[in-house]
Parts: sequence; C-alpha cells; structure tokens
Amino acid sequence: MTVTVALVLAVVLLLVTGPGQAKRLIDSQERSLFDAAVVNDQPVVGILSQELSYLMTQNYGDDGYDSYIAASYVKFVEGAGARVVPIWINQPAEYYEQIMVNLNGVLFPGGATWFNQSNGYADAGRHIYDIAMRYNENGDYFPVWGTCLGFELLTYLAANGSEHRAHCRSNSQALPLNFKDDFRKSRLFASAPNEIVDILSSEPVTANFHQYCVTEANMTAYGLEDNWRVMSVDKDWNGMEFISTIEHKRYPFYGIQFHPEKNIYEWVQNKNISHTANAVQAAQFFADFFIHEARKSDHRFPSETILDQHVIYNYQPIFTGLKRSSFEQCYMFSGKVLDEDQLGLADDAGSSASAVSLTCMLSVLTTLVTTIVRLHVHG
Ligand SMILES: *[C@@H]1O[C@H](CO)[C@@H](O)[C@H](O)[C@H]1NC(C)=O
Ligand SMILES: *[C@@H]1O[C@H](CO)[C@@H](O)[C@H](O)[C@H]1NC(C)=O
Ligand SMILES: *[C@@H]1O[C@H](CO)[C@@H](O)[C@H](O)[C@H]1NC(C)=O
Ligand SMILES: *[C@@H]1O[C@H](CO)[C@@H](O)[C@H](O)[C@H]1NC(C)=O
Repeated sequence: MTVTVALVLAVVLLLVTGPGQAKRLIDSQERSLFDAAVVNDQPVVGILSQELSYLMTQNYGDDGYDSYIAASYVKFVEGAGARVVPIWINQPAEYYEQIMVNLNGVLFPGGATWFNQSNGYADAGRHIYDIAMRYNENGDYFPVWGTCLGFELLTYLAANGSEHRAHCRSNSQALPLNFKDDFRKSRLFASAPNEIVDILSSEPVTANFHQYCVTEANMTAYGLEDNWRVMSVDKDWNGMEFISTIEHKRYPFYGIQFHPEKNIYEWVQNKNISHTANAVQAAQFFADFFIHEARKSDHRFPSETILDQHVIYNYQPIFTGLKRSSFEQCYMFSGKVLDEDQLGLADDAGSSASAVSLTCMLSVLTTLVTTIVRLHVHG
C-alpha cells in the first residue's frame, strides 16, 4: 500500500516539480529511519557542558565553577521551540543512558578544550555518540548536532578517537559556504529555502573561530567518507580548504564548523560576526532544522515535574561579556564534575592522551587572543 502511494506521489511530483524533487522523495523512501512519522511538539534537547577553558578558569575558577555552557547555544535551541537540559561531563556511563532516554536530541557546543582531558567533554561525547548510534540502529530516531568543536568531536568520535584534524587558521573569519554540486541531496539542505541557500552561498555570513580544520583528505585517511556526506567546504586565512558542513548518511547526525548561534546571540566586537538581517535569517535556519529533527523523537521525561528538576531553568546565566569573554552569557556550574576517586575511574586517566584539542577560541579575553593562539599553535 505504502509503496503504491509512494509511487503515485513520485509520479505526481515528477510532473509537478521535475525530476529533482521526485528523485529526493524516492531517495528518502529508501532510508526508512528518515521516514519518521512521530511529531513531538514538546522537544527537549540536551546540551553537553564542558570543562572551563584556561581563561575561564582564571576568571571564574575561584568562584568554584568547574564546567559551563555558553548561553548562546541554549538560546539557539530555545529560539527554535525546544527546552534545554544540561548534560554534565565526567559522569558514569549509566548517567548518559538515563538522561538520554528522556531527550529528543543532543547538541555538542563549540568551545576551547582538549579531547584528551580525562573524563571531560570528549569522554562524555563518546558515551552520547555510542548511545545515539544504538538508538538510531534500532529505529529510534535521535539527532545529534555538533557546532565547531562539537563538529570536530563528531568526526573525532567517528574516527574512533583518532586525532584526524589539521592545524589551520580561521579565527574571526566571516565566510559564505562553497556548496558541493550535490548538496541538495543532503537532508540538511534538501528543503532549505532558495533564499537561505542564496544568502549562505553568496554572503560572508558564517562566523568561523577555529584553529583546527577537518579536510576531505582527513575524512578519507580515517575511513569516514563512506558514512559521512560533505555538503560544503571553505578556505582558512591561508587558503587551506576545510569542511564546513557534514551529515551522517545513515543517522541524523549533523556537523557545522561555523557558529550560527553567534550571528543571533553574540556581540563581542571586531570579531567578524555578521548581524545582518540575512545572516540572522540564515543562522535561524540551522536551529529550526535541528529542532525539526528533534521533533521526530518520541522520548519523554516521565513527568513535567521530573523534567523541571533537570531543565536549564534551574540555573541562571551570568554576564561573562563584562569580563571580556567572547560569550555574552554563560551558565556556570559547580560540583557537577565528580573527581576521579569518586567515580573509581582514576586508572582511565590519560587513556586517550595522544588525542589533542584546543579549538574554537570562544571563551577568550579579547586582548589575549593573539597571545593565546601563538601559545597553543607554537607552544
Ligand atoms: C572504528 O571501530 C569500529 C569497531 O571496532 C570499526 O568497525 C571501524 O572500522 C573503526 N573505524 C575507524 C575509522 O577506524
Ligand atoms: C589532515 O589533512 C591535511 C591536508 O588536507 C594534512 O595536512 C594533515 O596532515 C591531515 N591530518 C591528519 C592527522 O591526517
Ligand atoms: C572579516 O572576514 C572577511 C572575510 O570574509 C575579511 O575580508 C575581513 O578582513 C575580516 N575582518 C576582520 C576584522 O577580521
Ligand atoms: C593534551 O594534549 C595537549 C597537547 O598535546 C597537551 O599539552 C596536554 O598535556 C595533554 N593533556 C593530557 C591530560 O594528556
């Protein structure tokens, strides 16, 4: 029955809109996971916290904070119609199992941390990625979104924790996307309005802040090109080409190297963050797309009362922009990072010691940016 209906629809679409649309319909029929029928209009998305960067520790470490989430990521999710639950780093594996049963997607935010930090951002990411993969394998639709360092985390995890990235220089760089010829075959851009595609491809609206890049050669070298589709590339200040958007071919996993949340919510000056009406509109497209994906997940918290215990509203962001952070506001957390003895994980320390990362110079004092970049690039 479904097949007949699909065929009729395909023919009608072919007549009405031409071969491109009909082809996409048929393509999507082949991927049953992406035919999700569920519509959840109360989506709840988890955002992974991360350890304080060096400079944040200098500014806020004395206040007892040990992890944070930049508020712009929270607003990015909320502004598209979802609620946010913070996900703590440095927790036992069962914690991630328990929290994700209730969530409709996870966002890996950008930031500045190392992937080799024991029981930090990347280790939490490993748990989340594995669980999300298992859900999707079982037909339980579960999107994961990575922005900047979060995009690099996705590819790092897909490469089984190999340091696959290239050093590059793309700080304060505003760029249009150079789309691949077949980018419309991706789920992310298949139904993007032409107006959005025009803005993204012709105006320097994407805000780049990274000193690591993932290249197509890196994807090939680590066996990632079979499972991931590259939709666009860009060039850093030195003309080195890097991947700016990807998606997983079988799971609803998406990664972007730039920062749409900054166009809408971050105001640090002289950092090349476009706030034009077009830039904001294009940025909002990515938020809407991700939350639309989250609506295809039917996970629920057992009750509103239990959701209330976990939701980000239990915390108040602080005005970190006053201390010249490039984040206007951050949710700062304390006591969420258990020490290794408490977790009985002390022996795990350094297990991924060769995998390094310090990227996405986000939480950096404006005046110290140049010094810090030099320190980490040359130091
Ligand atoms: C990662 O590990 C899995 C399971 O051990 C393996 O199937 C896969 O090929 C590995 N991928 C890479 C990129 O090394
Ligand atoms: C990633 O690719 C770039 C060039 O595309 C190369 O210079 C670099 O060595 C690669 N990195 C790794 C870890 O393979
Ligand atoms: C902003 O980025 C553009 C490239 O799109 C570059 O030409 C310009 O110099 C950059 N401005 C600053 C202040 O970095
Ligand atoms: C992580 O990698 C960086 C860069 O190689 C290194 O400086 C740092 O000591 C490493 N940290 C750990 C905990 O291994």
